[in-house]
Amino acid sequence: MLILNKAAGVFSKPSRREIYEFLRSFNFRPGKVFLHKLVLGIETSCDDTAAAVVDETGNVLGEAIHSQTEVHLKTGGIVPPVAQQLHRENIQRIVQEALSTSKVSPSELSAIATTVKPGLALSLGVGLSFSLQLVDQLKKPFIPIHHMEAHALTIRLLNKVEFPFLVLLISGGHCLLALVRGVSDFLLLGKSLDIAPGDMLDKVARRLSLIKHPECSTMSGGKAIEHLAKQGNKLHFDFKPPMQRAKNCDFSFTGLQHVIDKIITQKEKEEGIQKGQILSSAAHIAAAVQHTTACHIAKRTHRAILFCKQRDLLSQSNAVLVVSGGVASNLYIRKALEIVTNATQCTLLCPPPRLCTDNGIMIA
Ligand code: KG4
Ligand code: ZN
Repeated sequence: MLILNKAAGVFSKPSRREIYEFLRSFNFRPGKVFLHKLVLGIETSCDDTAAAVVDETGNVLGEAIHSQTEVHLKTGGIVPPVAQQLHRENIQRIVQEALSTSKVSPSELSAIATTVKPGLALSLGVGLSFSLQLVDQLKKPFIPIHHMEAHALTIRLLNKVEFPFLVLLISGGHCLLALVRGVSDFLLLGKSLDIAPGDMLDKVARRLSLIKHPECSTMSGGKAIEHLAKQGNKLHFDFKPPMQRAKNCDFSFTGLQHVIDKIITQKEKEEGIQKGQILSSAAHIAAAVQHTTACHIAKRTHRAILFCKQRDLLSQSNAVLVVSGGVASNLYIRKALEIVTNATQCTLLCPPPRLCTDNGIMIA
């Protein structure tokens, strides 16, 4: 690649991976002096087995991921022992794949970083015991990683974001707003008092039997709701956003889920259909639940921005809001957050969807 570029008179800066590959093509192994620090990241906190090799300047040399979504869709949710078994079956292959695509041998690694909390205990255990064995075998340092901190900091791989910034993490297992003051200095401003928004959307999608919908059968619950919502009228049902009077930045989704549950039962009676069949008003319900979720998330985030600005915790003119997690890939929710950031002179940053969801890169 280097030679081709030169011959063509193109002097674009080669990537670090291209340099490694070029040197290795002559059987030259540059060794530690030349190589930057290389970290292997391993993630098994929930239902994705993921690994990646990243260097100290943030170059992603290789990654691999195995998603369990399809299996858990069939069982109607994550069954922890099933997730554990699938992690066990895949971890060796995924780590091997990340190393071989990065063309880095295990002995060249500087450290192994692994998610140690929070997450499903059985799932975390697989990544942790695999990593500790590797650490022992290779005699490398071990870096324990907090999953939420990794999500919050991922944006810094792509954008030059200065501390402090505000982060909103919304996924199937997480829901929190925090001020990020440094790499491991977080001020928690709000969290869900019950379930996470992705969990609520997954439950509504299951209750609507969207897995049987021909257009949604392979989609996660949240994605299926977003897809179907485009065909519905959000004003057809009037669900009130939760916690409208609460003077804090916390969230709640269980109440909304119960209201929707009742509406679905009522509609099933009206339409004379059995539980498990798809309602004719499913798209309207999807549009209304997505809209209410977006309003709730946007309002709580608005409060957090105003709070931080009032107390000079965030810059008045250059404040940044980072939004990540699986639910952050929802374009309707992003749009609602954009309205809030435009009104408060903040910059909204979202990592691309593949970095919003769980992955090995954020851990490395
Ligand atoms: O971050 P993630 O991959 O895993 C964790 O929960 O940590 O997020 C998965 C969640 C699921 O609940 C899924 O339904 C939701 O993110 N999700 C979405 C969308 N895509 C995935 N929710 C709303 N809109 C989407 N497009
Ligand atoms: Zn996560």
